[in-house]
Amino acid sequence: MTETLILRELIAAEPGWASGGAIAAKLGVSRVSVWHHMEKLRAQGFEFEAQPAKGYRLSGRPKMLHAGLVEAQLKIRRKGFTFSILDEVDSTNDECARQLAAGRPAPFAVFALRQTKGRGRFGRVWHSAANGNLYSSFAFRPRIAPERMQTFTLWMGVTICELVSKFVPVTPGVKWPNDIVFDGRKAGGMLTEARVDADEIRDLVFGLGLNVNSPASGWPADLARRAVALSELSGAPVDLNRLTAALIGRVLLAYERFTDGEHGQLFAELWNKYDVLRGREVTLVEGTRKRRGTVLGVDDVGSLLLRDERGRTSGFRAGEVTVEKGG
Ligand code: BTN
Repeated sequence: MTETLILRELIAAEPGWASGGAIAAKLGVSRVSVWHHMEKLRAQGFEFEAQPAKGYRLSGRPKMLHAGLVEAQLKIRRKGFTFSILDEVDSTNDECARQLAAGRPAPFAVFALRQTKGRGRFGRVWHSAANGNLYSSFAFRPRIAPERMQTFTLWMGVTICELVSKFVPVTPGVKWPNDIVFDGRKAGGMLTEARVDADEIRDLVFGLGLNVNSPASGWPADLARRAVALSELSGAPVDLNRLTAALIGRVLLAYERFTDGEHGQLFAELWNKYDVLRGREVTLVEGTRKRRGTVLGVDDVGSLLLRDERGRTSGFRAGEVTVEKGG
């Protein structure tokens, strides 16, 4: 789309200027047409500085997600990948599942400004107000055996930590199996859901909710002490569109590495870097069972390894972990 191409030229020229004539020539349109498209962008929240001798410069961008601005900032363009940004949806995971079932070519991603039925693990509600946070889901058709997917969410967790660490000055962590945390407070959660047919994963949806720009005062009372947004950590608003463009690149690359089976060594390194539970005394609740122990790490299939007080080590596939005080 012409507007996206204009944005791409202006962003590529930053912090310098892009001349109207050069943009028009590059896009193969008239200067008047460039001007018309810029007027449309102005109506969507963009601001431009114009100087007759130099051309144009982007001086203001919309704070909310904008498809053209995300597209213009994509560093890697993957053939066939598409994404949509919805004002409102029940759950981006559910929307992806519906669209996969309806035959939309994968991979694709769905983002929403707000969700009316945002979901977390164990069917919990994921607070999803239109507050500058990210609600995203990526849809794939991997056609691989379910047992090969066992460490997928953990791998995605370290991928998200790598991304987030480029946007905030403090190091994030992954809390097994699906939380992105800073100093015990939750900045994001992941929800991977799959549809298995015969012996292979037919549809795969990777959902990520990331607290990006929500004000600290805006959380419901039960979340206020447990949640944190990236903007709070960086002391300034985070550029949601740039973050989303970078997220798309990282997730697609990570997915490819994973399905090609080329992630193993990097996963081990990154898990050691971002795992916040290693060496901690924890309680793991799995259904009605409770286990206490020291976390040793994860095994090849992503199970949490716990050593109990008698020195026995066991692996756990699922459950909820609480860190013991002082542990
Ligand atoms: C958790 O921490 O329990 C996982 C939370 C996952 C939330 C995200 S927000 C985008 C996507 N859509 C949903 O309904 N859930 C995931």
